[in-house]
Amino acid sequence: MRIVIHRTAQDAGTALARFVARVLQLQPDVTLGLPTGQTPILFYRELVALHRAGEADFRQATTFNLDEFAGISGDDPRSFRTFMRKHLFSHVNLPPDRAHVLDGGRKDWRSEIREFESAMTAAGGLDLVLLGIGRNGHIGFNAPASALAARTHRTRLMAGTRRANAALAGGDWRRVPTHALSMGIGTMLEARAVVLLATGSDKAGVIGRALRGPITTRLPASMLQLHPNVLVVIDRAAATRL
Ligand code: GLP
Repeated sequence: MRIVIHRTAQDAGTALARFVARVLQLQPDVTLGLPTGQTPILFYRELVALHRAGEADFRQATTFNLDEFAGISGDDPRSFRTFMRKHLFSHVNLPPDRAHVLDGGRKDWRSEIREFESAMTAAGGLDLVLLGIGRNGHIGFNAPASALAARTHRTRLMAGTRRANAALAGGDWRRVPTHALSMGIGTMLEARAVVLLATGSDKAGVIGRALRGPITTRLPASMLQLHPNVLVVIDRAAATRL
C-alpha cells in the first residue's frame, strides 16, 4: 500500500486527476470504477480541466459507478447519475453507453445487479477503482456489518450514511432514499488497482483505523489491506492518525 499525503484537499484532488489523466494516456481503453460524495468533487473538477486542456481523453474508456440509490430514477436530482452528469459525464467525451451507473429505479433490481456485474465482466473487469470512504469506514455502500456481500447487491442504508448524503437531497436527510444498490467488496477487490481518496480532519480517525488497524467487516475499508495494489491519496488533515 502506497500512501501519498498532500498539503491540502485541493492538492490531493489535483494530483489524483493528473494520475487518472496519465492512466488514460497509457491505457486509453481503461475500465474505471468511479465514486460519488463530496470528497471527489475537486478531483472531478480538475479532471474536467485536464480534459479541456486535451490531456484526458475518455473516448475509449469505460466507467462503472460504485453505487446508486434504490427507488429513484437516474433523472432524479438526488441520484448519483445526476451527480456524475453534473461533475463529469456532461463535460467529457465519455461515450454515454459506456458510462455505467446502476439503475436504482428499476423494479427488477435482481436483474439490474446481475446485468451490471455481467457488463463489468464483459469489459474485462475493473482496471482501476477509485474509492471514497465514509466516516464509519464504508466503501461504496458497503456498511459495517458482521458479514459483507461480495458482489453487487441491494442494501438498506444506515441513518448516518443517509445524513452524510443529505447534500444531495437539499440538506434534508429524510429525503435521502432508504436503500441503495452497491458493488460488493469482492467486486472492488478484484480491480487490478485501487485508489482511496480521503480529505479533511473528519476522516482522520477512520483512515487511521482502516489502514493501520485489524481487518474486519466492521470497518469495510480495512479490507483494502488485502489488496496488493492500493494507492491512498489523502491530505494532511486526514493523515493525523496514521
Ligand atoms: C457515500 C458514497 C460513498 C462515499 C461516501 C463518503 O455514502 N456511497 O461511496 O465514499 O459517501 O462521501 P463524502 O466524500 O461525501 O464524505
